[in-house]
Amino acid sequence: MIQTNTYDPEVLSVVEAGLSKTPKRLPSWLFYDAVGDKIFQAIMRIPEYYLTACELDIFKTHKERILQHIVKSNEAFQLVELGAGDGTKTEVLLDYFVKKKVPFTYVPVDVSQDVLEQLIVRLNKSLPALKIHPENKLYYQALEDLNNDSREKKLILFLGANIGNFNTEEAVGFVKRLAANMNNQDQLLIGFDLKKNPRLIQAAYDDAGGITREFNLNLLGRINREMGGEFDLEQFSHYPYYDPETGVTKSFLVSEQEQEIWIEAMGKSVHFDKWEVIHTEVSQKYDLKMINRLADQAGLQIVDVIYDSKRYFADVIFALREQ
Ligand code: AVI
Repeated sequence: MIQTNTYDPEVLSVVEAGLSKTPKRLPSWLFYDAVGDKIFQAIMRIPEYYLTACELDIFKTHKERILQHIVKSNEAFQLVELGAGDGTKTEVLLDYFVKKKVPFTYVPVDVSQDVLEQLIVRLNKSLPALKIHPENKLYYQALEDLNNDSREKKLILFLGANIGNFNTEEAVGFVKRLAANMNNQDQLLIGFDLKKNPRLIQAAYDDAGGITREFNLNLLGRINREMGGEFDLEQFSHYPYYDPETGVTKSFLVSEQEQEIWIEAMGKSVHFDKWEVIHTEVSQKYDLKMINRLADQAGLQIVDVIYDSKRYFADVIFALREQ
């Protein structure tokens, strides 16, 4: 029997291009298949990965402060979450707003229909009074459609230091595109992981239990599963490093041997020298100067900077700059 395989053309072209580059580079969105999503859930619970607990601390402590920024009268608004994920942190805000009988609709935006369905099932159970309007779309498309469909003001959430997975230049481009879809009364809340003791940051990406190692290596596992790759995961190691000067954490997969790896979908092998690396992720850490620069370059003004109790993390609220 002749077996024909179908490969996701986007994944195939990105992997092929990334492994042909010198140095080799794969984009971090490839981490998030069903296996990677589960490992990331586990990362958010490991003690070294302080980010999730810090943002949760901000929401628990400052939910009224966040609400005051968006609710000026009793006008209805939309709480739009870009990349809703499992919504655990957001649930703290949702629960508070529902209990205060604030008139709002929760609009989780995610490209994964699965993620949205799981979230809706959970929220229907835990918060039956919550009005949910899920958008299974790309971020910009969802914002554009929301602008066309409704005049309600929006508080747009981009949480979890996801902004850090862009380099600083890409982050400006991303925020500019969000700003282009904001109206004067809208606000944007972005979660930033801040520069801090370099050893804490290094440990967050190199946990003792090896969960982040598993997360990084899953990228090769995904190529094996989806593209008929023949990577031996034992022959690669996880190497993250934080540069306190620039605030960038870079993660790499390091080839422990000189090796040729056959990838069926590409119809060829990829050569690795001994100690050659694949750069797989950027996790940019910010300080207030950098956040101010980002706001300036994207045409926004900072409305509020809300820190967790350790000042490891900040949720920053932006609005369009007044002309
Ligand atoms: C999703 N993102 C903000 C995480 C981060 O911290 O860059 C992904 C991650 N990578 C390794 N650990 C967590």
